[in-house]
Parts: sequence; structure tokens; C-alpha cells
Amino acid sequence: MLDQALQYAHAHRDEFLQELVQFLQIPSISAQPDHQPDMQRAAAWLASHMQQIGLRNVQVFPTAGHPVIYGNWLEAPGQPTVLVYGHYDVQPPDPLDEWRSDPFQPEVRGDDLFGRGTADDKGQLFVHLKTVEAYLRTGGKLPANVKFIIEGEEEVGSLHLPAFMESHRDLLQADVAVISDSHMIAPNQPSIVYGLRGLVYMEVEVQGPAHDLHSGSYGGAIKNPIEALCEIIDALKDNQGHITIPGFYDKVRPLDPEERAELARVPFNETQFRAEAGIEKTWGEAGYTVKEQISARPTLEVNGIWGGYTGAGAKTVLPAHACAKISMRLVPDQTSDEITELFRQHIERLAPNTVRVAVRKLHSGEAAIVDRHIPEMQAAAIAYERTFGRRPVFTREGGSIPVVADFQRLLGIPTILMGFGLPDDNLHAPNEKFHLPNFYKGVDTAIWFLREL
Ligand code: BES
Ligand code: ZN
Repeated sequence: MLDQALQYAHAHRDEFLQELVQFLQIPSISAQPDHQPDMQRAAAWLASHMQQIGLRNVQVFPTAGHPVIYGNWLEAPGQPTVLVYGHYDVQPPDPLDEWRSDPFQPEVRGDDLFGRGTADDKGQLFVHLKTVEAYLRTGGKLPANVKFIIEGEEEVGSLHLPAFMESHRDLLQADVAVISDSHMIAPNQPSIVYGLRGLVYMEVEVQGPAHDLHSGSYGGAIKNPIEALCEIIDALKDNQGHITIPGFYDKVRPLDPEERAELARVPFNETQFRAEAGIEKTWGEAGYTVKEQISARPTLEVNGIWGGYTGAGAKTVLPAHACAKISMRLVPDQTSDEITELFRQHIERLAPNTVRVAVRKLHSGEAAIVDRHIPEMQAAAIAYERTFGRRPVFTREGGSIPVVADFQRLLGIPTILMGFGLPDDNLHAPNEKFHLPNFYKGVDTAIWFLREL
């Protein structure tokens, strides 16, 4: 059964690639309202593809946002049930002129497939669909039961997914979840991610005078809202990189020496990290390694800041308001509700009484840590080893996939993060790519995983 499935997967690589290209050509950008019809098209394409490969009960569930797609195959009595999650939405392709080829006309260059959504997450999601196809087209059955839940709002905060999950618990009930939406360390060094950070995304607006003022007639006697905002932002971290929000670290689970030692053994090349980022020197929280800073410690980032006159030439003006988008990445056991409140209180405390400040939350999701000693992790480790010839290392990542915590909370199941991307895949950036050997090896690994389970 396994051998035929692997053979089928190897013989059909060209077809797999052509189908993936069709899926990638649909610009399913969840953030942009004018791509609403493309979201519907991507959902319909996926549902019909899932039916074609032999999944049963395929349904497109409308939500208050973008639809959720479901499908299953449950004819392996006595075997475990795997819930596969993926997302069919993609990030906007901007800045467009930095792409070497059209983001929605995928192009193979060397061993890589370039295009928006190749790695995040259409290509990685496809790995699991092709796994099902390889088994069903050969032996007619799978070694385990599978359920698929594929959403269209991951890149915008999965706003409607928890409610959908709550009202469809029975439909989704499984023994373990699997997600391929992260990366491995290098093409020859597989890894399994067991920790992801949570996220709280806030907007801070500082209102000064009722309208823009002549900076000559008023400047000198009025608090400039841009300056007030800069002072607030400056006060959020000290010069050691610690976040100064009172209580921010209270619930942070300390890294025990064993975990620190294990993380230190994860091959992580700081020179390459700096080169990829295009910086000469790193900067972060004192007392932690770079690997820890970007995965196991909480952070605060200013994502954008605006206000006043930013057009061509000079304009003398004392602006009426200033805004910033500020996000915090969280680690267990911080909760997004508590951090949202602490942030709000701290900003209000920092604001001088010469301006008015409004604090809004845009979205949030919880951090997750999965026990790396459970048998399902071991099944995944063996599957990687069979395919890549090397045992995967266990690592934590700084990105967020809020559904992992929701699977734990609402369904009581752990998630295995079987990522097949690479660190330089350019997620959310121009020239996103998926390393094709990883696509094909991903299918082999997922074929092995269902068997090992
Ligand atoms: N695929 C990423 C998450 C990811 C990135 C995991 C890097 C591991 C390493 C996912 O699509 C993503 O970008 N998520 C958002 C979530 C947010 C909008 C709630 C993120 O991390 O910013
Ligand atoms: Zn993603």
C-alpha cells in the first residue's frame, strides 16, 4: 500500500505541479475586498479538486467572512483520525515591481517555484491532498482516517474560524491535527516545530489639535501628536530590549535549562540570519540568544507609523493626529486578552494630558507549545527520517498560527507542525517561492506519516 502510493507520487510529479500552478493562478488575497470573487473561485476550485481526488463529504461552508472548506475519508475503522489544516488565502503581492515574475503566473526557476502562495500555504497544503490522492488511486484506501479543514482567513487573523469550530466540533473531532505552514531548517535538515508565538495586533491613535495648524502661529505652545506618539513608543522598551509594560512578563513560562540546551543545538547560522535580513548587527533582549529572541521570547514591534505631511517638498504644519500599528508576539502562558489590557493601560498612563489617545485591537491569537514526546511526534520524526535520510530536530518558531491553540482548546488535540518550507522562502515578501524537491519529499513524508501513525 505504502510502496504503491510512493510510486504513484513519484510518477505523477509533473501533474502535481501543473495542478498546483492552476490553484496558484487564482489571486485569493483575503485582505482585499476587490478579490472577494477570487476567494469564492479558490474555494470552489479547491472543493472540486478535493472531490476529484476521492475525499468524501466535501462541503464549502459560508462564514461571516471567507468560506471554510471541509472534506473527509473515514473508512479505516480502528485507525486514528488526522485533521489536516491549511489555508487557501494569500498575502497581497505588494510591492509588485520587486517581483522577477508575475506573482500569480507561477514560474519555475532552477529547483524553485516562484509565486504568491507557493509556500504559504497553497503548495504546502497541496502536499496533503496529493498524499490522499496517491493512496486512493492505488490501493483505494488510506492507512488512517483523514479530515480536512481549509480556511480563507489565516492571513487576516482567522476571525471567523473559532466560531465555526465551536459549532462543528463533531465534524472536526480527531486524534491529532497536522499543519504544513512552517519551514524546516535547511533542505538536508528537516525539523519539526513544537512551539509558535501568539499575537496581539493594536493600533494607537494620538489626537492633538482639532485640525492641522500653521506651525509658525501655533508651534511652541502646543503638544505635537507625532512627538507624543514617538515618546510613547520610545518608552515601550528599555535599552536592554526589555518591554516595559508592567506585568508583561509575569506569565512568561521560563525556558528551562534542558530546553535552552536543545534550542542551542538546533543548527542556526547567525551570519546567514544577518545576511538574509540585510543587517550588520542584531539587537534584542539582553540575556537571550538570537534563536531564543526570535522564537521563545515575547516581543513588541512597531509595524507602521504615520501622521502629518509626507508628500513632496516642504509644508509647515503642526498636525492634528498621528497613528501607529503595534504588535506583540506572545509566548506561553501569556494570554492575548491580558496583554491587550496591560498594553491599553500602559499607553493611557504614558500619554501626556496635552493630547488624547485611542487604543484599538485589530486581532489576536494565542501561543502554543506541543509536547514533543507524544507518539504522533515520533511518527512524524520517523516519516521525515525515511524521506530525508536524517532525523528531524525539534525547534520553536516566532511566527503565529492561532488555530494550533484553538485545536488544543476546542478539540483537545495536539498539532504536528510538519513544515516543508525553507527559511528563505520570502513569505509575505516579493519573490515568494517553494523549493520543489521539498514539495515532492513533503508528499513522501506525509505518505509515510499516515502509515507510521
Ligand atoms: N505561515 C505563517 C506562519 C509562520 C511563519 C510559521 C513562519 C512559522 C514560521 C502564517 O501564514 C502567518 O504568516 N501567520 C501570521 C498570523 C497572524 C496574521 C495572526 C503571522 O505570523 O504573522
Ligand atoms: Zn501561512
